[in-house]
Amino acid sequence: MVLKMSHNQKRILVTGGAGYIGSHACKALSAVGYTPITYDNLVYGHPWAVKWGPLEKGDILDRDRLDEVIAAYQPEAVMHFAAYAYVGESVENPGKYYRNNMAGALTLLEALRDHQIDKFIFSSTCATYGMPQKMPISEDHSQLPINPYGNSKLMVEQMLKDFHAAHGIRSISLRYFNAAGADSDGEIGEKHDPETHLIPLILDVAAGKRSQITIFGDDYDTPDGTCIRDYIHVTDIAEAHILALEKLKSMNGACAYNLGNGKGFSVNEVIETTRKVTKCSIPVQIGQRRAGDPARLVGDATLIRNELGWKPAFSDLISIVETAWNWHKNRLILEKNIIC
Ligand code: UFG
Repeated sequence: MVLKMSHNQKRILVTGGAGYIGSHACKALSAVGYTPITYDNLVYGHPWAVKWGPLEKGDILDRDRLDEVIAAYQPEAVMHFAAYAYVGESVENPGKYYRNNMAGALTLLEALRDHQIDKFIFSSTCATYGMPQKMPISEDHSQLPINPYGNSKLMVEQMLKDFHAAHGIRSISLRYFNAAGADSDGEIGEKHDPETHLIPLILDVAAGKRSQITIFGDDYDTPDGTCIRDYIHVTDIAEAHILALEKLKSMNGACAYNLGNGKGFSVNEVIETTRKVTKCSIPVQIGQRRAGDPARLVGDATLIRNELGWKPAFSDLISIVETAWNWHKNRLILEKNIIC
């Protein structure tokens, strides 16, 4: 079953539109006059996050279902967010990641080829770079992933070059650094199950839902000994997708841009900022290093700033944590969890 829809609305197929980053992209698409068609298997996505267009339940590995949805809506482009993204799990169960992230993307691309849809925006990751050789990381840095998650994303980037050469599918891959924060209107935000990301875990501690945050190592070669990451607001990521969509109308090729702030914050700095924003106590314990964590990961996003005019609106850590806290707190209140 697919919803009927007027054909004068501009439609974009958003795979993974019920997920954290995909739902923010749907909101941004709607704000500029598109109807996002969310295609999501709801394994990790949330029906409540689909607010700006129809939800079509389906799996990216299901070619028949993809054909049905694409034929019904005839989207002018695709934003592809649907993927598994637990780095540790990808090491334990690589088949799951190659099947969903790589074979799923391949199934989707073949469907687009057959339906003559030639614009594609791909959620890629800084994990495609592997261990950084120089900092900040620019797009021409070597891509040598150190886990199956990064490999699966890099394989899709490679497929996109070949699908452009053979079938004319134009694409932009956006390599996100650490996506964080939440919609500033508080309509959507980050909710993973299980949660492994630093900021939502610290917010759970602030709210009293978890007893403490474990810092994964304080003996790194950084000023305070804890790992440095480039946190980028999810709304700024969503805006970059809108700019990429515009760019695809006039561009020919398969290219990639980094999405980061070019600023790094340590785990300790994130915890301290969260204490200031929430005014709650955040007990900390020092744990072992987590395997595969580089000391420092900071992106150089000069290319997307210069070529697409992208400018992050929430580049400071305070606004990233404030928006995340606003959404997190309201959700926990609704779920009747403890606040401070
Ligand atoms: N960290 C802790 N304690 C925790 C959780 C995280 O100290 O309980 C630290 C990590 O060691 C890391 C930093 O906080 O230094 C950020 O960790 P996240 O798990 O939030 O994010 P990652 O940097 O590991 O992962 C992000 C994306 C991945 C992507 C990866 C690329 O979420 O999808 O960057 O390196 F693959």
